Amino acid sequence: MLVRPALDRKIWLFALALSLSLVSLLYHRPSYRLLRSLDWTSQTSSAAHHQAQLDFWQALELLLRSNAPHVRRPLQAGNAPSIGYDATHENERPDLLYMTDEDVSKVKIAHENYLYSILIHPPLLVYRPKTRGIVSTAGGFYLPILVISLRMLRRTGCTLPMEVFLASYAEYEPYICEHALPALNARCIILADILSHVPSSVSISRYQLKAFAMLFSTFESLLFLDADSFPVQNPTRLFASEPFLSHGLVVWPDFWVSSTAPFYHLISSTAIPPTTLRASSEAGEILLSKKTHPLTLLLAAYYNYYGPALYYPLLSQGGPGEGDKETFLAAALATHTLAYAVSEPVLAIGHTQDGAFAGSAMVQHDPEEDYRLTQSGLWRTRNASAAAPPKPFFLHVNHPKFDPAQVFDDRELLEFANGTARRTWTDGEETMDAFGGDVEKWFWEEIKGVSCELEGKVQDWVGVKDVCWKAERRWRALFEEGDVEG
Ligand SMILES: *[C@@H]1O[C@H](CO)[C@@H](O)[C@H](O)[C@H]1NC(C)=O
Ligand SMILES: *[C@@H]1O[C@H](CO)[C@@H](O)[C@H](O)[C@H]1NC(C)=O
Repeated sequence: MLVRPALDRKIWLFALALSLSLVSLLYHRPSYRLLRSLDWTSQTSSAAHHQAQLDFWQALELLLRSNAPHVRRPLQAGNAPSIGYDATHENERPDLLYMTDEDVSKVKIAHENYLYSILIHPPLLVYRPKTRGIVSTAGGFYLPILVISLRMLRRTGCTLPMEVFLASYAEYEPYICEHALPALNARCIILADILSHVPSSVSISRYQLKAFAMLFSTFESLLFLDADSFPVQNPTRLFASEPFLSHGLVVWPDFWVSSTAPFYHLISSTAIPPTTLRASSEAGEILLSKKTHPLTLLLAAYYNYYGPALYYPLLSQGGPGEGDKETFLAAALATHTLAYAVSEPVLAIGHTQDGAFAGSAMVQHDPEEDYRLTQSGLWRTRNASAAAPPKPFFLHVNHPKFDPAQVFDDRELLEFANGTARRTWTDGEETMDAFGGDVEKWFWEEIKGVSCELEGKVQDWVGVKDVCWKAERRWRALFEEGDVEG
């Protein structure tokens, strides 16, 4: 049983720890002890590395479990509405959760104790110093989609290694993990190999995986990408430029206004920001330095560990895309760690269907250019004509999923009413021009390549016929026969 210090002493210690940790963050030293104690070199064997991961997880899991909030999922009066972000108009923040004073206090004390523990005696993150790479999670039909996204990444000239986290061996695809990914300098890591080391009381799945993939990735600096998100420019330079160098955490915006509950701010002792300050986060792409942001990642792990029944509702109240999306920025803010939220609004590209716009992908923008603008006081969210927009940087093809095993049956998406093949990204011409090339053509080239490479070799595609043939047929119809617009 942990003995808690008297409250005022605890607060004093907490303040002391916070300032110490801020000082150490300023000097970028949180991993110093790790470097000394384990003496990593590029030769460190993967067995030693794996053992260090297991030890780290054992320590972290104990900390997570011993600071359980012990409350039921808060009752909720409906879901937060989808309201578009507007930097010039304050929206009333939704307040839809019911929590008793007793529950709020339990959750707040658990949060404080966890934070206190990671400040005073953090489990040391395990990674290889000075490494950079891409991290993703995938499984089931997402794995082939990930291979398409990875090929798009390689088109930009980026050669950084990639680590792909699968929840368990049930997700393992031998051909993809042993041939397709290694050929593209990527490898599969089974999260259960680490997590099951501790028979844990909470199972980790779906949205929760992202934080743990970042936590267990071997890279010091990482770009997390959802399986259906890829850059259209080489992302390597992002690691060596602003805002990453000074902030160590970069997140991108969602379409929507923040719907974080006032209770969350009470629990985390953070001020309630005006809804105009920044949009909610999208989290299909995140840049993070484990060296400068161990606290962010450790607190994000806590938010995700207790996410589905507590922190996801606290951070989104059922708003659009509720899940891990807000946990990273929230964790940075609650640990008083610097973070940069890209200001340039996310854009939708898609096509017109039955007179209405059907969005199919999200465009996120160059953080370096965005930072340059906001540093000079130019906020395009307040005045769009204040400056030219930053260049598109990521394409997050989130809806529908371009899963070769299914997408060819979606005739509404791929064809006109008369059965002629049509492009899916035709609306938003200015945006399309800003890509500096025919991204849709590149994308379909990789869908075709992956469809033909993986046909007959993917368990998830068993029983699906003619994937390669359908991809080639669509390719010819769109890009060779010249019978479509664009
Ligand atoms: C927006 O920026 C443009 C270009 O700097 C300027 O001419 C215009 O007056 C600004 N509009 C407002 C409402 O501030
Ligand atoms: C099919 O419909 C589209 C859009 O209405 C049109 O552009 C195209 O020419 C049509 N093709 C044929 C073969 O009728």
